[in-house]
Amino acid sequence: MGSPLHAPVFLVVCIFIQSSACGQGLGTEPFGKSYGAAEVRKPSQEMGTRFLLFKDENDRRGCQLRVQSPETLQECGFNTSQPLVMIIHGWSGSESATVGENSDSDSQVDGLLETWIWKLVGVLKSRPVNVGMVEWISLAYQHYAIAVRNTRVVGQEVAALLLWLEESVKFPPSEVHLIGYSLGAHVSGFAGSSMDGKHKIGRITGLDPAGPMFEGSSPSDRLSPDDAIFVDAIHTFTREHMGLSVGIKQPIAHYDFYPNGGTFQPGCHFLELYRHIAEHGLNAITQTIKCAHERSVHLFIDSLRHSSLQSTGFQCSDMDSFSQGLCLSCKKGRCNTLGYDIRKDWPGKSKKLFLITRAQAPFRVYHYQFKIQFINQIEKPVEPTFSMSLLGTKEEVKKIPITLGEGIASNKTYSLLITLDKDIGELIIIKFKWENSAVWANVWNTVQVIMPWGMTSHYSGLILKTIWVKAGETQQRMTFCPENIDDLQLHPTQEKVFVKCEVNSKRLKQRSR
Ligand SMILES: *[C@@H]1O[C@H](CO)[C@@H](O)[C@H](O)[C@H]1NC(C)=O
Ligand SMILES: *[C@@H]1O[C@H](CO)[C@@H](O)[C@H](O)[C@H]1NC(C)=O
Repeated sequence: MGSPLHAPVFLVVCIFIQSSACGQGLGTEPFGKSYGAAEVRKPSQEMGTRFLLFKDENDRRGCQLRVQSPETLQECGFNTSQPLVMIIHGWSGSESATVGENSDSDSQVDGLLETWIWKLVGVLKSRPVNVGMVEWISLAYQHYAIAVRNTRVVGQEVAALLLWLEESVKFPPSEVHLIGYSLGAHVSGFAGSSMDGKHKIGRITGLDPAGPMFEGSSPSDRLSPDDAIFVDAIHTFTREHMGLSVGIKQPIAHYDFYPNGGTFQPGCHFLELYRHIAEHGLNAITQTIKCAHERSVHLFIDSLRHSSLQSTGFQCSDMDSFSQGLCLSCKKGRCNTLGYDIRKDWPGKSKKLFLITRAQAPFRVYHYQFKIQFINQIEKPVEPTFSMSLLGTKEEVKKIPITLGEGIASNKTYSLLITLDKDIGELIIIKFKWENSAVWANVWNTVQVIMPWGMTSHYSGLILKTIWVKAGETQQRMTFCPENIDDLQLHPTQEKVFVKCEVNSKRLKQRSR
């Protein structure tokens, strides 16, 4: 514990596994009492799984499909010429559950389920698909370990529904898309593994698939690429505490997306609680705790809602390399679209894709790699700070701070990732500025006077000859040269303008390889 940053994570993991050990660790038992493994908390409803179909985007009640009752298909408006998308919720947290316990049975499902479900139903209904939900609240509203055990049973029931649909109305499982959140992702996996090879489910999307009791387990005991023709996953809350993380860290799909590295999400920090209170009122604390976990769902919803602003993820080995801008390639299927409209091809093996997102919708950013080559004439390491202003055909972004993280000792090329919230169009001008303070500039000048490195022709400074740029979203590569080639040296507080160097570009491109 200790660091305030880790406290929320610890709390979520505790809520997840509800172990009394967590309570002792915190000094008090934050959730009143601990639950024994045998104890079953029962909402007043019948136990089991229900399959609901929604008629339109405002339908919150749903119409129940019953296996072996073909008339329910017609009653619920099931259209066999459209695909079927089934949402599968996760483990039921204590907060949302108490609402349901006190309400009448009609609105009970509504009360127990988290509000994101209705948002997802709403946006899915804008597409020509049947939208349904696997409601397994009574089995999910349990001690975490019991809910985990129940995922297998619920998965088998989903498989039974799909096989029945194929038998009774020739609806092929390949037209089915399961979207499972948290534990629901593994329910989808068990549904998939309960279907044999000839009846494979078309697609499974895992939204921050649950980690505890699944991380490191064999593919048959969790969601895995074998469970459907196409499997994608979005990992958003894999920050580890005491060996546990809420979301699973390992890749478990054909395409595994790790937005912002997958560990935690922008806008989810506890310090942003006040903004959450303004948005969610008293639910702010729960919202803040679940924020990074649930971000996977909102990224998916955003992909449907802002379909012209899709986020792209890029294949990379880890976040470190991604943060250096080294992975912005789309060659050989190395990038893909996050969310509903993902390109459904067959990668040879699981691919880990990384991307940066904004803190709220629309989440998309524009990724750029900047490669900057310095020649240090000072022959002493300097640790300058820089800023860049970018002028594009549509917009200008001013003073993006650049930190290189290490001194510039001699000639070196640096690679960095820069992300922009807005589309600046095609980049045409870069203004590169040495940002050190005026005080620093004075010291610099003094040094120049005391130790004159030869004549004016051999005046010392940093020379910035070339800036290579690669735009991830357009895959465009550009090379920038100083506008004024007679004045190459960069000194503190100075700004240099770079323009596209068409003439030299061929030669420079070859050198950059
Ligand atoms: C069923 O779906 C098809 C294809 O999207 C559509 O053309 C048809 O109108 C739908 N039928 C009904 C009854 O909505
Ligand atoms: C840096 O590059 C310049 C020009 O290309 C060259 O004259 C100089 O020797 C290089 N310095 C080092 C330390 O490599």
